[in-house]
Amino acid sequence: MAGREHRSYRHIQVRPIAGALGAEVRGVDAARPLEAEIIAEIRQAWLEHLVIFLHDQQLTPHALLAFARAFGEPMEYPQLKGLPECPFVTPVVKLAHERVNFGGVWHSDTTYLEQPPMASMLYAVETPPYGGDTLFANQYLAYETLSEGLKRMLDAVDGVSTSTKAEVSKTREDRLRESGAALKVLTGEHPVVRTHPETQRKALYINVAHTSHLKGWTEEESAPLLEYLFRHQVRPEFTCRFQWKPGSLAFWDNRCAQHNPINDYHGHKRVMHRVTLVGDKPA
Ligand code: SIN
Repeated sequence: MAGREHRSYRHIQVRPIAGALGAEVRGVDAARPLEAEIIAEIRQAWLEHLVIFLHDQQLTPHALLAFARAFGEPMEYPQLKGLPECPFVTPVVKLAHERVNFGGVWHSDTTYLEQPPMASMLYAVETPPYGGDTLFANQYLAYETLSEGLKRMLDAVDGVSTSTKAEVSKTREDRLRESGAALKVLTGEHPVVRTHPETQRKALYINVAHTSHLKGWTEEESAPLLEYLFRHQVRPEFTCRFQWKPGSLAFWDNRCAQHNPINDYHGHKRVMHRVTLVGDKPA
């Protein structure tokens, strides 16, 4: 697949899980302090594969946070409370009686912020007996497979993201009710096509959860083009699917990948711990 070089590593083993993106990384105990050379290899694998997965980890919230700090600066997740003992770690929970899963729609995290997060880490504490997988989609491929004419047009347009689109706010209701917080209205404007600051590759940077319209266009005018792009950017051949077990850790790059947790495990509990890492202003 274009752009995935499958380089060799000295300290870690990297195995792609799909043609488009996603790789398992072995040979890392994320609970221990890691040498700079190993961190650099993990970062390289992450940049190459967009989302990486570690298995059989044993991470307390503080250990998860320490591992995340090796790659960036943790931030609080807007509108949600972190764990009291470790506020930068946000629980992502669906209880057995709940019907809605948190963030259960294709998205890149919180693109309505002026500086949306670079990356997120999600650690599985308790998983259902089946289901609850997470899908990821490669947004470099989504951009690269558009026609030259559409690329040229999109290269010059900004997208407007809002925290209040119904697609996503309904997935937050249980957690907001629990924390007693009201949904804040946040709005961000970013290029529809962003250049990744580390790889210098262009990626499509809109998403059905948060992008409401194109800047300078009405919502009605934007809708047909956005609907086409929302469908295009998650074509099955751009995706991978990850099946969680307790101790699995996923680390994804929000600048070039989207994700979508599947809500197919009603009657069972799923508990994840999440750390979000500060990003730059998309350009
Ligand atoms: C999220 O968007 O952070 C949730 C991902 C998941 O639960 O798999």
